[in-house]
Amino acid sequence: MGQRAYTRCAEAYDPLGANRPTLVLVPIGKLYENSRISYLTGKKKGFLLVSETLMGGTMFSRLCVASLMITVAACAADTSTSSTPVTFDKDVLGILQQNCQGCHRPGQIAPMSLLTYENVRPWAKAIKAAVVSRKMPPWNADPLYGHFANDRSLKPSDIDTIVKWADAGAPEGEAKDAPPQVKFPADGWQIQPDIIVKGPETVVPARPKNNVIEWQFVVMPTGFTKDTWVTSMEVKPSDLSVTHHICVEFMPHRPDVKYGVPEWVDQPRDDNGSVLPRGKGQRQQLLRPETQIRNSSGIEICYLPGIQAGDYRPFQAAKLVPAGSDLVFHLHYTPNGKEVTSRPLVGFTVAKEKTQRKYISLSVGAASDSEHFAIPPNDANWASQPGEATFLEDAEIVWLSPHMHLRGKDFTFRVEYPDGRMETLLQVPRYDFNWQLGYELAQPAKIPKGTKIIVTAHYDNSVNNKFNPDPNRTVYNGTMTWEEMMVGFFAVTVDKNVDPKKILKQSAKFTNGG
Ligand code: HEC
Repeated sequence: MGQRAYTRCAEAYDPLGANRPTLVLVPIGKLYENSRISYLTGKKKGFLLVSETLMGGTMFSRLCVASLMITVAACAADTSTSSTPVTFDKDVLGILQQNCQGCHRPGQIAPMSLLTYENVRPWAKAIKAAVVSRKMPPWNADPLYGHFANDRSLKPSDIDTIVKWADAGAPEGEAKDAPPQVKFPADGWQIQPDIIVKGPETVVPARPKNNVIEWQFVVMPTGFTKDTWVTSMEVKPSDLSVTHHICVEFMPHRPDVKYGVPEWVDQPRDDNGSVLPRGKGQRQQLLRPETQIRNSSGIEICYLPGIQAGDYRPFQAAKLVPAGSDLVFHLHYTPNGKEVTSRPLVGFTVAKEKTQRKYISLSVGAASDSEHFAIPPNDANWASQPGEATFLEDAEIVWLSPHMHLRGKDFTFRVEYPDGRMETLLQVPRYDFNWQLGYELAQPAKIPKGTKIIVTAHYDNSVNNKFNPDPNRTVYNGTMTWEEMMVGFFAVTVDKNVDPKKILKQSAKFTNGG
């Protein structure tokens, strides 16, 4: 629809005179539940496009909705007559560059590239379906809470553009109208690393017993000979088909360190490969008692499906890598039926200027022993105990990432300020294990010391959960995806002199890792 017609329609349906920034699709059945409706437009059958500005605002009467629907239909009809043709070069490529190409290019996790018209053309219908259903781009945050700098979810107008383009037969248009190609870093990196450190080489077996390959820990040298502030880090796996996740942490160098030697603990498991319950207060032991892995810094960055780089530059912050640090790799490989040799890399960019703020990765989670954490069979909405920690220093929260496994249902990060005020920083109402997403706050949350961070989560161990491998068993905390976890990973920036070990006081013990 032409801009003027759009505005006219929008104004006609703006009875409450609200601003109209973000629009969301709401199923019509939900209309009465959802009272934050300021105007309607769009033409999706069974859906209304409503603005989100009015929270807890006025309810529409049925009559009002009915009359609005009629006029919406009129506007929709208006649409089809007065538009210029939508083309790939002019209208679609820019949307794909901004929201899709990060994953849909060679070397990244998506199965096909969406860089050029030739790449995209065969996918036009699938793209339309994926954006209309909001399956793509993956983004699970409830838009009611918080704004996120890395929010790739499409604006309704972008979805509309893609739909029109696909419906018109996916025309290419003219090259002169196309935006310049985005310059991505070479070799499939997401950051352009100044330094690349080699990870350990691991032979991932084709078919281990029960398909279990326990988490392995391997120490590798970094080659950092002096204290170095790094402004971004990235873990780049070599073979995604066997890589469940890879995390790294720093450890002070010791002369007797044995590089490249994997360590792991065979967990006590039943015949199906599920961990046995653990007594009160017991954590899962992932390292042998005689392990060489000591005094490590905590997880700094992971590769997970949906995350692989941490970039601290937007916050004018950096991480300190002490001189001579070694890197500890946490490796979780999953067999894919073929023997594969994996050789991950870790990339760093180095600070060019003096750093004032330190970027620290932290986590908070629920008690994980089997007295506290045991999801009953067929329970569709089991709440774990909340995880809670208190800030001992002033900090700014900049990034949040919920972590659960296949039965994860929803996850919320809240803070309770010293004056008792509560704020929800992130709510993920429909958690999807397939996407381990990190949510970067558009405005860092300023956290005075004494503030609590609280994470809550629910699990669906019923048949309704299509990912549930077995609704008839009690599920305990464990490292495999058919076991469960409850961890809120998050990151803060603090003054560069703050000791990272003294930022947070945990109130519950939990297992590490993702
Ligand atoms: C975070 C990474 C990521 C982003 C961003 C992303 N995709 Fe995907 N996309 C994937 C992966 C991985 C798959 C394959 C697995 C799947 O279907 O979930 C996929 C699958 C698809 C498919 C096939 C869907 C199907 O049903 O088989 C389409 C079409 C698609 N993406 C389009 C898009 C478009 C269009 C965008 C941007 C508007 C986008 N994707 C953004 C990672 C991403």
